[in-house]
Amino acid sequence: MSKKWQITVPGSTANLGPGFDSIGLSLSLYLNLTVSLSDKWEIIHLSDHLPKEFEIKDHLIYKIAKETAARFNKELPACRIEMTSELPFARGLGSSAAAIVAAIELANIVCDLNLSTQEKLDISSQIEGHPDNSSASVLGGLTISTMDENGNVDTIHIQDLDASFVVFIPTVELKTTEARSVLPDQYDRSHAVSASANANMLAASLILKDYERIGRYMESDLFHEPFRAKLIPYFNEIHYAAREAGAYGTALSGAGPTVISIIPTEIEEQFINKLEKQFPTHEILLTRADQQGVCVVEVKNDVLA
Ligand code: HSE
Repeated sequence: MSKKWQITVPGSTANLGPGFDSIGLSLSLYLNLTVSLSDKWEIIHLSDHLPKEFEIKDHLIYKIAKETAARFNKELPACRIEMTSELPFARGLGSSAAAIVAAIELANIVCDLNLSTQEKLDISSQIEGHPDNSSASVLGGLTISTMDENGNVDTIHIQDLDASFVVFIPTVELKTTEARSVLPDQYDRSHAVSASANANMLAASLILKDYERIGRYMESDLFHEPFRAKLIPYFNEIHYAAREAGAYGTALSGAGPTVISIIPTEIEEQFINKLEKQFPTHEILLTRADQQGVCVVEVKNDVLA
């Protein structure tokens, strides 16, 4: 019988406020692919929100897997893929980074590429253009990353954050390209100094796991949120209500339009109950940081090995 694998990739939130294009946090919301070799290409979407009609050649997973194989002079063999996803498109929860990481892993398995974790970080971040979501999806946990002009990624990886994360997902989509188009091309020096000082304090607070400060500096971004806020439904109202309900802090999730709060784990239930009543327009989900990152398991006789 031909081999079958399950590839699981966590979605992620990026920036956490001022950690723009650098900080990522994987979330317990997953993209899953069940893959087997086949004589023709098939990608079957099993989740309701995934499109039913599409061309294989336009599918992000197919395109990136083929491109990854080609980087190593390999031909991608035909596969049958069943796909489920808990990640809505264009909402700031890292769905495209998760798909890119899954596609790289797909090429890695079916073409025997033996990619190292560093190669997965580099390739996924080069394709995304920035290393925040992709590093978190590869490694799990919290990542603070930079990518140099040659596409080499350096990441500091932090695990075991003792907090919960609540995402407020509106019904509207916001494409990252649109959310990036409202950003200034340049910042003057005093603005850049304040923005990077706040980002430094956020990174240091995350390393120290000083949750009160994490929350405070999450809300101090000067790189992108002041320019994007007008695109985000109930941006200020959610910040205010979340603080009143006991959140450490709230920020835009990636490029938005989802907003994310970090909260003490002990208040999860009361926080969700309160905020669900205040924002019936949003899907409000309780998540944790994923601890594992991308994961591949061989399926034997339809049992995970
Ligand atoms: N750091 C990116 C942004 C995340 O804020 O535009 C979305 O890709």
